[in-house]
Amino acid sequence: MSELDKFKRYTVTSALPYANGPLHIGHLAGAYIPADIFVRHLRLKKKDVVYVCGSDEHGAAITIKAKKEGITPQEIIDKYHKQIKESFGQFGIAFDIYHRTSSPIHHDLSQEFFLNLYEKGEFIEKESEQYYDEEYDQFLADRYIIGTCPNCGNEGAYGDQCEKCGSSLNPTDLINPKSTLSGKAPVLRLTKHWYLPLDKYQPWLEEWLLEGKKNKWKTNVYGQCSSWLKAGLQPRSMTRDLDWGIDVPLEEAKGKKLYVWLDAPIGYISATKQWAKDHGKDWQKYWKQQENEEDNSCLIHFIGKDNIVFHCITFPSILHAHGEYILPENVPANEFLNLEGDKLSTSRNHAVWLHEYLEEFPGKQDELRYVLTSILPETSDSEFTWRDYQARINNELVAIFGNFVNRVMILMHKYYEGKVQASPRFTDPDLHEQVGKAYKAISESIETYKFRQALSELIDVARTGNKFLTEKEPWKTFKTDPEATREVLQNCLHIIAHLGILAQPFLPSASKKIFYMLNFSQDVVSYDEEIKFEDGHQLNQAELLFEKVEDAVIEKQLEKLLNKAQGLVTAAVEVSPAKENINYDQFSAMDIRVGTILAAEKVTKTKKLLKLTIDTGIDTRTVVSGIAEYFEPDSIVGQQVSILVNLEPREIKGIVSQGMILMSENSDGKLIFVTPAESAANGSVIR
Ligand code: 2FM
Ligand code: ZN
Repeated sequence: MSELDKFKRYTVTSALPYANGPLHIGHLAGAYIPADIFVRHLRLKKKDVVYVCGSDEHGAAITIKAKKEGITPQEIIDKYHKQIKESFGQFGIAFDIYHRTSSPIHHDLSQEFFLNLYEKGEFIEKESEQYYDEEYDQFLADRYIIGTCPNCGNEGAYGDQCEKCGSSLNPTDLINPKSTLSGKAPVLRLTKHWYLPLDKYQPWLEEWLLEGKKNKWKTNVYGQCSSWLKAGLQPRSMTRDLDWGIDVPLEEAKGKKLYVWLDAPIGYISATKQWAKDHGKDWQKYWKQQENEEDNSCLIHFIGKDNIVFHCITFPSILHAHGEYILPENVPANEFLNLEGDKLSTSRNHAVWLHEYLEEFPGKQDELRYVLTSILPETSDSEFTWRDYQARINNELVAIFGNFVNRVMILMHKYYEGKVQASPRFTDPDLHEQVGKAYKAISESIETYKFRQALSELIDVARTGNKFLTEKEPWKTFKTDPEATREVLQNCLHIIAHLGILAQPFLPSASKKIFYMLNFSQDVVSYDEEIKFEDGHQLNQAELLFEKVEDAVIEKQLEKLLNKAQGLVTAAVEVSPAKENINYDQFSAMDIRVGTILAAEKVTKTKKLLKLTIDTGIDTRTVVSGIAEYFEPDSIVGQQVSILVNLEPREIKGIVSQGMILMSENSDGKLIFVTPAESAANGSVIR
């Protein structure tokens, strides 16, 4: 009996992906494969479980993408919701419902939540100065503003969160904030918002989380939460000045929207409501505290590490403040998956996209599920490489699992035309014991969120089968003792059947194929599936479960990644939208020349600034430039540069800077000089 067994019901969620782009392997490995294995396992235990997910269709993630693609937010969410849903379906992620946050049922429930807290007087109403982009006439919430994270120094932190260290931020926390619309430093303007008093919930969070979840939650999750709590929580605004999202249901808040991280997790509840409506169920049983505590559902959130703060601090606080809801029992967040030695990156197109994999590897979903499960970033970041993909499939799935099943099936057909004699159980007690132990071990591993271990315990069952076969050598004994040989092979058939059951959470297609080959009347639906061969039971023909991956296939994928990296150097950096047109006079007013750096030195007490002496052809002058993090001063002496020479002189750190060096960014986001293609004369005009 495990910790989890005490619950009557289970509500399992996977993070709602933003409908602003396709899915890649990092998504699958973060919040979907582990949850899918977990849910399939519970279903095989015949538990009452609902598994919900859907598209997250609000917030700046959507509107920024729409702007980039030149289409409306609605078109963006429709396009990607469809694509994402299809990819999940193809990979067998067995949601009970894949919903969307643009649905009316979700808008209604989110507004209801807001009003519930509002009427209880939970929110702090506060007018404050917030960043505003004057050029775009817009307040800069969340992803509309980037800057340096005050906690970890990440220069690409968003206005609501740093994805590198996971901390939740307010735009005014950012160092050197910049609008992602105009690229300019924003100004401050007064606006009113409704804040969730996280500081007020801090004592409760300390008790519920720090005390209550100690040694229960994964250390990566618990550790992050405790360090945020130690730092002290601040009120967090639950409303935004945006034009895409759910309306704040207050007359005085006309034009304002709910913060996307208020509505998104409520999406789990609205998805359950929709599912319950469609299937004649009571959604409240899966979400609300029941009269008798023992009747409560067990709520588990599967997420990636960048979502920890919202699922462990903010959303539980909202549920607690509301008062009628259950709280998460566990939040087994995964760390990040890297690809071929580098971070997965949408903007640099450094990814294995699921829709592309499905096209290039038709019918090979289990193979990717297998590889990703064996490298899940459960405790620390992990790495996908194509060579490792090949090795795991060839050396484990094909050589151990597939080979065992295939050898037995082929021999059964060769010796006995695929006919089984009455075989109600294992006759080999060791095998019976080992397989029994595997059920227990796999179950324990899954229920403690150790999916990698569970998978290796599954492969061990196939190893046991191979060992048994090798020791018994039925191909040698058939001639002399066909009856003993039959017994050996029929014991192996039992192992295969158990493999079919045990593999179902991990490799659903292979599981189906096994049961088909064994000619059992239904797919695997329970761990208690009866494995019994009647006398004369006819096996179906053997089919290969998995195929070897050839070198050429891997080389093609590696080449593709390389081509993407080279072909997309320009797309590697977040491309900011075009600025307003200027006229020719405005352009010709800028005097840009070729110059050469004569000397460079660090500006004392700064990290970023270099003092450059430049030969502009017109004169020799000083320019202070924010490039110190990218260049050693000595390494750039003699470098030709483009310099705007008629920029008004400015004093920076006590030095008068006369002009500006033009810089661009390479695919790693490193600043690079904009130089003439050939050596040019200093002072020559750039036009
Ligand atoms: O980080 C993300 O992709 C978010 N869209 C996850 C939301 S999870 C939930 F709360 F809805
Ligand atoms: Zn940070």
